[in-house]
Amino acid sequence: MSKDAIVLLKEDHQEVRKQFRAFRKQDQTPVQKQGIVDTILELLTVHTYIENEVMYPRVRQLLPDLEDDVLESYEEHHVADVLCMELAVMDATDERFDAKTTVLMENVEHHMEEEEQEWFPKVREGLGRKQLQELGEELLEAKKRAPRRPEKPSAMKKAIDAVVK
Ligand SMILES: [Fe+2]
Ligand SMILES: [Fe+2]
Repeated sequence: MSKDAIVLLKEDHQEVRKQFRAFRKQDQTPVQKQGIVDTILELLTVHTYIENEVMYPRVRQLLPDLEDDVLESYEEHHVADVLCMELAVMDATDERFDAKTTVLMENVEHHMEEEEQEWFPKVREGLGRKQLQELGEELLEAKKRAPRRPEKPSAMKKAIDAVVK
């Protein structure tokens, strides 16, 4: 049974929210926090990949009226990508680790909220059931080839060090 693209993306969002809740629990060791952040980075890397590679370009093509929403989404993902790359090379004992994770979570929560409340309903209205199912298939295929970790974190770290130091 194939899956509707929006249902699939919302399930991803729920997984992400579950990890955010886990991170916010009190009294965790740096090792525990590191583990949760590693999971968050993996979930976000895969989710961003399938949205950027499949969902956004296809919606842009099929529903030109949603162009502005798509462009805004790319920018929001870009901000999250930068934070993810920074976190990927940061140690959980770093004094900025919690703060950076919190900023990442706030950004992603805002973005997921916007997708679910504003963007997805417009997509559902504009596309038929069959199209959404086909898009769901494409998303599942993309998941198989998606990267699991933020790409080129070491190059990013060098760039940050060059600016900060
Ligand atoms: Fe998104
Ligand atoms: Fe999303």
